Amino acid sequence: MPTRKLSRDEIRKRLAAFKQNDTPWQDGRTWAYVYDPGDEALDVIKEAYSFFLSENGLDPTAFPSAMRLENEVVALCCQHLRAGPEVVGNFTSGGTESILLAVKTARDHARAKRPGITRPNMVAPTTAHAAFHKAGHYLSVDLRTVPVDPKSFRADPNLLREAIDDNTILLVGSAVSYAHGVVDPIPALGELALERGLLLHVDGCMGGFLLPYFRRLGSSFPEFDWTVPGVSSISMDLHKYAFAAKGASVILYRDAELRRHQIYTCADWAGYSVVNPTVQSSKSAGPIAGAWAALHFIGDTGYLELARVMRDATRTLSRGIESIPGCRILGRPDMNLIAFACDTASVFHIVDEMKERGWFVQAQLAYGPSPANIHLSVNPKSSPWCEDFLADLAVCVEQAESLPAPDQALHERALRIDPATFSAETFFELIAAAGLAGTGLPGRMAGINELMDALPATMREKLLGEYLNQIYRPTPPE
Ligand SMILES: Cc1ncc(COP(=O)(O)O)c(C=O)c1O
Repeated sequence: MPTRKLSRDEIRKRLAAFKQNDTPWQDGRTWAYVYDPGDEALDVIKEAYSFFLSENGLDPTAFPSAMRLENEVVALCCQHLRAGPEVVGNFTSGGTESILLAVKTARDHARAKRPGITRPNMVAPTTAHAAFHKAGHYLSVDLRTVPVDPKSFRADPNLLREAIDDNTILLVGSAVSYAHGVVDPIPALGELALERGLLLHVDGCMGGFLLPYFRRLGSSFPEFDWTVPGVSSISMDLHKYAFAAKGASVILYRDAELRRHQIYTCADWAGYSVVNPTVQSSKSAGPIAGAWAALHFIGDTGYLELARVMRDATRTLSRGIESIPGCRILGRPDMNLIAFACDTASVFHIVDEMKERGWFVQAQLAYGPSPANIHLSVNPKSSPWCEDFLADLAVCVEQAESLPAPDQALHERALRIDPATFSAETFFELIAAAGLAGTGLPGRMAGINELMDALPATMREKLLGEYLNQIYRPTPPE
């Protein structure tokens, strides 16, 4: 442990220095990962978060405040999604935790009600978030993914139906999907769930909060909330477009009977009895207080106004992108997420070029009918930047057109590797061949992105897994 203590001021400076190479999201030129309601709301959220930093959500009898905050936040979320009086839910640390819990609940519900099933599966469109793969992996529930409509990128209920078998316990739909920002036909999935006696989870992590505002502004898309018969659980993140601090999501169930399967209790040890509704046990009440503060400070009219700003910016961007020769939007986004491909240049070069001009945009690899593309999550603060963004994008597309084509020889070599024999050596050989030295973050990512894009999912996963295993290493402080 440090033998020389740091003063408060030194700590502040050192921490600020850590951020030096981070994406500078504060100026509104970052189009992923950060959801920014503006400085005043952010300040209020921070204050509320700090105010509850040390309170422990583990034990509602010791900290009834944490439970009260959670119950109030959940009540607001239920109302927002037009729930009846039976709907219950919990606050979780994020979309992934909400989804893990929905899958665990479905699995344990099936264990109780359909004991004949020894190897349960869930059926989801290929656009369902990776968190379902993770949940399946953690919880031993097989995931069967089925292709989406190649033009709209929405789930196809007929294909989902074909994938159902006697071991299916859960159907999944998104509102909206991350990759293309579209709402799946949830009413049709609800009918299917009712017909086959299955649970249906709606992943509203990305869109659950904002879509009702888009609806009020006149947008139309399939219904996805508690008014749809057959829906049995909904996840909705507050740390995305409700603008709460990270660590804020809710998982809602049609009734307490179903939610019972989520709760974990253990009195079979020497210490305090454990009763956890969610994955975490000890947990700061800070995120709950931060979310409560966001909902109350921004409020209904504030959210509607922010939605209007983002809706208008999305329209401006969509029109602008479609008018750049070679660029086209994938599907027809229902909310404020845009995915666009480019037929005349590598999107990975475009991402690098944009970065050099101070824009952070996210590359999405090709998958099924979805070509490699660029993802934009529109923020209220992005709005004043739309014209500048489009002007730079047009220049970057032109520039990218003259940059080198992917290294086919390298891709062919990588494609010959058997994922079963993949090792740290293979990793270093490949990244060296892609022109990267060591595991530091390369300034330009096109080479590595092109390589990833050429590989099947299993090899992509191997490469990324090895990369993470290399970069997370104990680093002594300076
Ligand atoms: C549709 C959808 N579901 C789930 C998640 C996972 O959320 P988190 O990153 O909070 O775990 C995301 C994240 O972007 C998402 O877009």
